[in-house]
Amino acid sequence: MRIGILTGGGDCPGLNAVIRAVAKSLMRQCQAEVIGIHDGFAGLMAPEPRSHPLDWEQVSGILMRGGTILGTSNRANPLGNPAHLAQCLHNARQLGLDALVVIGGDGTMEIAHGLAEQGLPVVGVPKTIDNDIVGCERSFGFDTAVATVTEALERIQTTGQSHGRVMVVETMGRYAGWIALEAGLAGAADVILLPEIDYDLDGVAQLCRERETHQRFTVICVGEGAKPLGGHMTVERRIEGRPDPIRLGGVAHVLAAELQTRVQSEVRATVLGHVQRGGSPTPFDRVLATQFGNQAAQLVMAGQFNRMVTLHQGQMASIPLHDVAHQHRNVPLDHPLLQAARQIGVCLGDNA
Ligand code: F6P
Repeated sequence: MRIGILTGGGDCPGLNAVIRAVAKSLMRQCQAEVIGIHDGFAGLMAPEPRSHPLDWEQVSGILMRGGTILGTSNRANPLGNPAHLAQCLHNARQLGLDALVVIGGDGTMEIAHGLAEQGLPVVGVPKTIDNDIVGCERSFGFDTAVATVTEALERIQTTGQSHGRVMVVETMGRYAGWIALEAGLAGAADVILLPEIDYDLDGVAQLCRERETHQRFTVICVGEGAKPLGGHMTVERRIEGRPDPIRLGGVAHVLAAELQTRVQSEVRATVLGHVQRGGSPTPFDRVLATQFGNQAAQLVMAGQFNRMVTLHQGQMASIPLHDVAHQHRNVPLDHPLLQAARQIGVCLGDNA
């Protein structure tokens, strides 16, 4: 067998761990040739496909490395143009691929589904620090991002305490609040604001004022997709030509400016940005990525295509790619972590 593998969309801690597991599993169990495609779908739809065979040495020693040894792209979408789609399918045939393993987020899974519908045998592996892929309880990269944000919140709290400030820390996560919620809880944030719950600005300001008289400082952890009641999300930029052109960012500055007119203490904003996506994966993410990679190899060997591997009730499983495309997994409003946060007195912005 000859199996292609590519990483699509934004980078994420654990991608190399998946590449390693897919390749090692296929090489050991069915002596497959594994072909690494460069730069995601950009490499597969180029006039000459960009790729190289992966051998055991190349996939050894990469478990703990951040980023992706294959490179990635979130610009290339072969489904956006029939000529690109035809080129992609032609290149897959030219490379002699019996199957393609695609590691990526919801946008990449959508493309994977489209290719599978065109007859290319595809297996998807979910990746995103946002943890927002439908049908998957936990995607690798999320745990690492949460650890990074948690450490940042701890460090920020020091300055908040010393200077008696309101410190607003913005996390990534797009339209889902998973990173802000888990890291906010782990990093002892006093206020956690999520895209799923519109915040009441005056209520948040009131809490900050109350804390001014006792604790003196407040730490607010805000997901980049959060918005005030009756307001809108903060878009940092539009990048035309991308499958998802909207880049959120800057809500921390917007919120800090509004709060500054309502509280006495100094208010400061920190946008953590891509630091959340970089570096070595946590042990949890290394293990999850290894399981996902191995599971993808098992699906390939069993001839089960047009599916994405998942974690379901703590077990490896798979679901049709069709069920994943065009959707996001948000924090449900009855999620136990929201309840726990409220019960210990964390403000979620809605005064509930
Ligand atoms: O989906 C992962 C993610 O890091 C989001 O949390 C963030 O909104 C987006 O990607 C940023 O994308 P880019 O690196 O293209 O700016």
